[in-house]
Amino acid sequence: MKLCVALDLPTLEENLKLAKMIKDYDIWLKVGLRSYIRDGKKIIQELKNINSNFKIFLDLKLYDIPNTMADAASEIAEIGIDIFNIHITSGAQAMKSVMQRINNIKNRPIVLGVSVLTSFDNQNFKDIYNSTIEKKSLFFAKKANECKLDGIVCSAYESKNIKEITNPNFLTLSPGIRPFGEESNDQKRVANLEIAKENLVDFIVIGRPIYRSNDPKYTVEKILKRI
Ligand code: C5P
Repeated sequence: MKLCVALDLPTLEENLKLAKMIKDYDIWLKVGLRSYIRDGKKIIQELKNINSNFKIFLDLKLYDIPNTMADAASEIAEIGIDIFNIHITSGAQAMKSVMQRINNIKNRPIVLGVSVLTSFDNQNFKDIYNSTIEKKSLFFAKKANECKLDGIVCSAYESKNIKEITNPNFLTLSPGIRPFGEESNDQKRVANLEIAKENLVDFIVIGRPIYRSNDPKYTVEKILKRI
């Protein structure tokens, strides 16, 4: 299981300071909407300047018509990042168009499908999808696998079942991790490190419990020891 640290801080400088603190660990970094909208490709370059071996997950959660998504995916593949994600609910045609467009690129990034956000609980999920998380997350996983995506973004609780109905190599990446009983904030389906391990999660994404801790470097160290 790999740790991916979310760089969701309010300024480029604060994100880079955090990346410098943890540059010698075997970790991934996640650049999401806030940081990418503000700093664009510059943040990727600056992170590579800190450690050229940093692996980066660009979390932009694409959702659009198939041609627009495929165009965006081919631009993303040029940036030099290692994972990006698209919404499974954008549909089979959109997912297939993305994969077709980037499949011939040498060392193409890993593509993950966003299933059910970890900020949903059963009640507010039913409110918008009129179904249960359990049913839909497996259904989304099957679709993403059929469309040849490399894996899925899901909660730790769904990871093991998803691997069972797809295949063990279908990657799972789980946000909503609270390693030491921290506040769940806006996340609803939160899990700790043991639950993530038991459920065979490949990547855990952790933001606030690290960057809001008194000593982010020590928190990363403690997490790495436990995984
Ligand atoms: O601070 P916290 O640990 O909750 O951060 C989780 C990170 O993972 C955030 O950057 C959030 O945008 C991202 N994420 C998520 N749920 C998804 C996909 C990404 O929480 N399904």
